[in-house]
Amino acid sequence: MNVGIIGGGTMGSGIAQVAATSGCKVKLYDTNQNALDKAKAALEKILSRLIEKGRIDEAEKTRIKSNISYVNTLKDLADSNLTIEAIIENLEIKKKVFSELESYVTDDCIIASNTSSLSIASIAASLEKPERCVGIHFFNPAPLMKLVEVIPAIQTSKEVLDKSIQTITDWKKVVAVAKDTPGFIVNRVARPFYGEALRIYEEGLADFATIDYSLKTMGGFRMGPFELMDFIGNDVNYTVTETVFTAFYFDPRYKPAFTQKRFSEAGYLGRKSGKGYYDYSEGAAKPEAKKDDVLAEQIFNRVLVMLINEAADALFLNIASAEDIDNAMTKGVNYPKGLLAWADEKGIDWCVNTLDNMYNEYHEDRYRCSPLLRKMNREGETFF
Ligand code: NAI
Repeated sequence: MNVGIIGGGTMGSGIAQVAATSGCKVKLYDTNQNALDKAKAALEKILSRLIEKGRIDEAEKTRIKSNISYVNTLKDLADSNLTIEAIIENLEIKKKVFSELESYVTDDCIIASNTSSLSIASIAASLEKPERCVGIHFFNPAPLMKLVEVIPAIQTSKEVLDKSIQTITDWKKVVAVAKDTPGFIVNRVARPFYGEALRIYEEGLADFATIDYSLKTMGGFRMGPFELMDFIGNDVNYTVTETVFTAFYFDPRYKPAFTQKRFSEAGYLGRKSGKGYYDYSEGAAKPEAKKDDVLAEQIFNRVLVMLINEAADALFLNIASAEDIDNAMTKGVNYPKGLLAWADEKGIDWCVNTLDNMYNEYHEDRYRCSPLLRKMNREGETFF
């Protein structure tokens, strides 16, 4: 299979590695020669590290490398069976590239976008044959993260969707099919992990370290919300939140937090700037968490029930199947358990009561319980 990747940055170079490892002939295209040089050097380094770790041998490294060529014109992608675009997140620029690309490729070439925040329908609309367009959304780093969200636009043909799912499965990834709605699955369902943690901080219930401690100790999350925001970058994470909030016509459930905005504005971006919610400078002491199990449990339950509510509502609105929603969170963002399975474990009645208690306390729409949870509770149902 010939695969054309457009954009050789963080995502494009990772996707190229995945496709090449699976035996596809990959052409990686970028307008910036420097980006291509960097992608090539990065791949060399990654493959050498895999040899050191004993995961691959020299022959495998040579095979993977020889499957990728680096090209400077879009026309070079003319013989692709599948193209995946991973350029700058700008609709107008993407549309221009897609429209030009379509003039070179054959009629049966699938044209996919790795966009995180634009609608696939709007990108597909730039094509003469919009039914060949689909969202294929990888997670960073693409070679390591198991999940890929596949997003059919309303224009996408069934054949293109089926072929895309098959290809990504052949690449040994776990596919979750998502409706073309803001944030798809992961970037929608994960919002409360950050948002509710920030809210708990803003209410003065606990500091960053204590909130992180609660989620890690009580919930088994690998990183607490503030550690994770520092890792992702406060600027990047804030922008995703704001984009999702705007795209949902300002549903208060997705409202961004002033705290994160101020941290971004101050340049406290996290690890990459040396300071975020924590100080990453040489020798800086990490603040101590308050190790109070009652408080930790309260914090964990509050964030968890908000995550469960979001996952249940995504199912209620047919964004994806229950299996795909749970897979998305365990394979895309390494949650210790699927949220719907977690809801079953905690009890649907516990979820409804906890949410209703919060709603009664605050009278804010953000704490409204999903109608699906309420119905399931009434009828004694579970997710699995
Ligand atoms: P990046 O900035 O690392 O790479 C983008 C590359 O595209 C650059 O090398 C740039 O030279 C190239 N480029 C820009 N305009 C171009 C054009 N007109 N033609 C050809 N190449 C062009 O960006 P990154 O992070 O790889 O993101 C790319 C896409 O993937 C975006 O749509 C983003 O929303 C999406 N995405 C990003 C994730 C992440 O964690 N960084 C995760 C999942 C999706």
